[in-house]
Amino acid sequence: MTRWRPGEKRADAASMLRVDQAGEYGATRIYAGQLAVLRPNCPEAKLISRMAAQEERHLARFDKLMAKRRVRPTALQPLWNVAGFALGAATALMSEKAALACTDAIETEIDRHYGRQLDELGEDDPELSADIAEFRADEVEHRDSAREAGATSAPGYPLLTAAIRAGCKVAIALSKRI
Ligand SMILES: [Fe+2]
Ligand SMILES: [Fe+2]
Repeated sequence: MTRWRPGEKRADAASMLRVDQAGEYGATRIYAGQLAVLRPNCPEAKLISRMAAQEERHLARFDKLMAKRRVRPTALQPLWNVAGFALGAATALMSEKAALACTDAIETEIDRHYGRQLDELGEDDPELSADIAEFRADEVEHRDSAREAGATSAPGYPLLTAAIRAGCKVAIALSKRI
């Protein structure tokens, strides 16, 4: 765990909140894109609907915390609106299993991202850390459910998940700054 010492820069909680809210917003858009394409009663759609409801809850909590702390959202929100929906729709059009592989890839990156943030925050911001830790557990559960439901059997799984993970890293880097 990283500990703050005099003279060191404290973790930038505002920037963390900004990128995390952008990520949860992106997640809701990905799932909206997938649910627009998938047959409503297929098992994948049922699983994704359940996960989407949790993303809505994560987003609402970060929205509230941002308002309370007067942190501005990322200026890239309109981009994540479109890019998230497009990624969701594109993977669902490939196949039901590809839609699950998308969740597998994204949540793998988000688990690492939230883990790094928790290390960086240390004891600095218990309020934010508590949310991140709780949501991280949900994201890991999403990743595991997607794998159990057959994500890894999606055609082109290694390439597809590598591409999505790379895109997710770029989105995280941009949302921290812009
Ligand atoms: Fe989430
Ligand atoms: Fe998630």
